[in-house]
Amino acid sequence: MDKQQLALIIPAAGSGERLGGSVPKPYIELAGKTILEHSLLKFKQVSGLGEVIISTSESYMDQTESLLEKIFPDLNFYVVAGGRQRQDSIRNALNKISGKTGLVAVHDAVRPFVAVEDIEKCVEEAARWGGAVLAIKAKDTIKVSGTDLEIVQTPDRKNLWQAQTPQIFWAALIREAYEYADKYNIYGSDDSSLVEQVGGKVVLVEGSDKNFKITYPLDLKIAEFLAKSGEL
Ligand code: CTP
Ligand code: MG
Repeated sequence: MDKQQLALIIPAAGSGERLGGSVPKPYIELAGKTILEHSLLKFKQVSGLGEVIISTSESYMDQTESLLEKIFPDLNFYVVAGGRQRQDSIRNALNKISGKTGLVAVHDAVRPFVAVEDIEKCVEEAARWGGAVLAIKAKDTIKVSGTDLEIVQTPDRKNLWQAQTPQIFWAALIREAYEYADKYNIYGSDDSSLVEQVGGKVVLVEGSDKNFKITYPLDLKIAEFLAKSGEL
């Protein structure tokens, strides 16, 4: 299969409320590098990468620009301001992408343990179907709650997956999805849900639980442990 040119969007503009602390999550250091740098170094190893756009907060724009210059001296890159919600940050980045064709990958800055081969599998499936999302099978039984925390449904765990990133799409498809979401003021908890709403086909690619999102203090402790064990 021809490798289509890949643009990478990294949302890094969150405030990390659930983790707490003064430094935003992407800029915390693990094994001598920021979490954002570790994530970027994974994508540097993926073939076909042509452009990188990072959304971040005003006070981290210069630092992020220097980081991109260091890691990707030969690529097009941009740093853009983040928005109120993750989806707003990604929209700002999407508006900067120069290529109208090829693939767009969205990857959380705070998933530095993603495996390069899993990214590549996801690229291949996205090129084939329109969209692909790394995911793992749900480990716990998932309940749907109603009012007063009453359980109203227990979906069959066999069909339940936890979506991760990267989420990769044909450029035209993710643009259409974001235009539709803007027009109807729709917010989704991931990018795939927006693409699904415009009828795009998105497939799951089984990844690994190592690709967890650093969200809570326990996640950061696990990340520090894995970094010390040479997992980065
Ligand atoms: N993100 C962003 N813009 C926002 C919110 C989040 O770019 N307005 C980014 C985060 O920096 C992170 C990724 O989206 O890399 C995943 O979001 P999450 O883990 O929820 O990070 P935060 O929003 O920072 O954390 P919290 O929800 O606990 O505040
Ligand atoms: Mg958040």
